Amino acid sequence: MKPRISESEIIEDQELAEYYSLMAKKYMRIPCQRVLKRVLSKEIERGRAIDVGTGPGIFPIFISKALPKIQFEAIDLSPVMIDLARRNAAEEALGNRIRFEVGSAYSLPCEDHSIDLLLCINTLHHLDRPIDFFNEAARVLKEGGGFVIVDFHRDTSPVMVWIFDLLWRAFFRGHPRAREGFIESVRSSYTLEESRAFLDHSRLKHWKLYTRTVEMWIESVIPKEGNRFGE
Ligand SMILES: C[S@@+](CC[C@H](N)C(=O)[O-])C[C@H]1O[C@@H](n2cnc3c(N)ncnc32)[C@H](O)[C@@H]1O
Repeated sequence: MKPRISESEIIEDQELAEYYSLMAKKYMRIPCQRVLKRVLSKEIERGRAIDVGTGPGIFPIFISKALPKIQFEAIDLSPVMIDLARRNAAEEALGNRIRFEVGSAYSLPCEDHSIDLLLCINTLHHLDRPIDFFNEAARVLKEGGGFVIVDFHRDTSPVMVWIFDLLWRAFFRGHPRAREGFIESVRSSYTLEESRAFLDHSRLKHWKLYTRTVEMWIESVIPKEGNRFGE
């Protein structure tokens, strides 16, 4: 297995960020529906949620529309992305419902055990300290709170990587840097074994990890005696 090549720098280029935002608005409907389905499977339809590494905010915007009783906070290290996310939410008349803030996955702007749902989509590979992030997730989640973390994994079969890279390059042909996005993300992602080891060494409990095509999904399972809202 090739060593990981870290991709921890953030997007500060306005043009590239706008391009990603445009493409996400056009093509992220199905990924958003898949995440929503997992959220609904956990019977989470209200309460406080946080999206970590929100980028242009497509996931919290989609889920807020489907689940109007959820109050979202969404953070990203990139101020350029946060500006775009605010703009995208305003376009959907959700400016008052989602709070977008510049913030770090290692220091979430939430009190201990205050969050019902945590999302982190396509962002784990940017984090060089995944255990610190998982510990932070464990700190902010309520007892029995749900989480959905989706990312690539570096040990995806080379054939799958080749096929998805071709597709990605076709979709993102309009921007030279964006064209490299898929392959760079895979190279900076963790293997399934590395991810399981990080989770085992973290305080995040009640998780399951599985794969879907080139993706790795880490999500909460409801503990037997679970009391989702700590009531
Ligand atoms: C590939 S984008 C994913 C955006 C969004 N979740 C989506 O799937 O459309 C990853 C995002 O993570 C952000 N990011 C990288 N490192 C971060 C960190 N330490 N804390 C918070 N956000 C971070 C980047 O700025 C970028 O917007």
